[in-house]
Amino acid sequence: MQVLNSLSERTQHFLSLEEQYGAHNYHPIPVVLSRGQGVYVWDVDERRYFDFLSGYSAINQGHCHPRIIQTFLEQAQRLTLTSRAFHSDALGEFAEYITRLFGYDKVLPMNTGAEAVETGLKLARRWGYEVKGIPAGKAKIIVCANNFHGRTINIVSFSTDDDSRRNFGPFTPGYEVIPYNDVQALKVALQDSNVAAFMVEPIQGEAGVVVPDEGYLTQAAALCRESNVLLIADEIQTGLARTGKMLACDHEQVHPDILLLGKALSGGAMPVSAVLADDEVMLTIKPGEHGSTYGGNPLACKVAITALQVLIDEKMAENSVIQGEYLRSQLLAMGHPHISVVRGKGLFNAIVIEHSDKNAAWEICMDMKDRGLLAKPTHGDRIRFAPPLVIDRGQMDECLDIIRLSMERW
Ligand SMILES: Cc1ncc(COP(=O)(O)O)c(C=O)c1O
Repeated sequence: MQVLNSLSERTQHFLSLEEQYGAHNYHPIPVVLSRGQGVYVWDVDERRYFDFLSGYSAINQGHCHPRIIQTFLEQAQRLTLTSRAFHSDALGEFAEYITRLFGYDKVLPMNTGAEAVETGLKLARRWGYEVKGIPAGKAKIIVCANNFHGRTINIVSFSTDDDSRRNFGPFTPGYEVIPYNDVQALKVALQDSNVAAFMVEPIQGEAGVVVPDEGYLTQAAALCRESNVLLIADEIQTGLARTGKMLACDHEQVHPDILLLGKALSGGAMPVSAVLADDEVMLTIKPGEHGSTYGGNPLACKVAITALQVLIDEKMAENSVIQGEYLRSQLLAMGHPHISVVRGKGLFNAIVIEHSDKNAAWEICMDMKDRGLLAKPTHGDRIRFAPPLVIDRGQMDECLDIIRLSMERW
């Protein structure tokens, strides 16, 4: 296996362009990708890598899945956007398909994950005032510490991550932060009769794949029901087969009142997100009160149907369970002294690197890159391992060899 440490001139060229003309709001691994297929991506020098991030779980179906791309191309040549000023022959079909699949009365389509979150929060407040009867301006939404729900000013208002908030205030009121995976804290917070909703990630993704205790979601759902409070599940990263079930909530047979989906809803082809809820919640929003120019566009609708069908037809949830269990068992078997934690569900996994060198996780990712595997640390010491769900056993073994070799240097 060839190990490359220096960056090629071509790579440097693209890095400089971004550095000079692009905002510095990300700190990417220095690799410049130009194409992808399945579990693989290639850089501008035609070096091949395993993608172990999958576009933060937007590419569960694998890069450029042929069926998704076929649908994309066909629809792109017919009709891409109508705006919601007019109907399209794709929106109804999508709405029927996704609501039946997940068991809800209605869907509200948006584009990015953050927009789905904003929509869910607006719906919860509306429901709080108009159905639950919370006094005007008093609605409260409970969220968890170390959450990640997106980057709008409203969403970072209840973030507990300083980097996300610094000098972006003033912030939106109406949120209470409680510890994650703490049923007792939720019980206490729910005593306030002005609470409209509890919003939670079934597994905290950006926090570093933090898996709550078994039963947490079940208990949270029961407590919310008892208190007449909506449960909002943000499945934007955990959903769509990533954790080994269509939804992470399915592991506990929890059916949230408001379900937020995004990312893999298009298999990486374009931004598509969706909010699902029953009529009692969804019909509190009337014409003209919420929307988005691109939300529910025909291209997105057609692509989303195929992206969902592909997950089901190709049994990606099932493969996620098998390969995920194998990956975790092999990582644990390495018994590496600097891997302090191996955790995850399905192919949604992370290791925690415990090392006196604070840069260790970054350096390990750089070494894995040089050996042909792309991953990126989060919060300094956690490395997420979340490959496309089409990975097979042979490919996983190759990846484990790379991880083993990169870890051996530490
Ligand atoms: C759980 C969760 N919610 C919301 C978002 C925001 O999605 P987007 O980046 O598409 O706005 C993310 C993105 O990582 C996420 O992981």
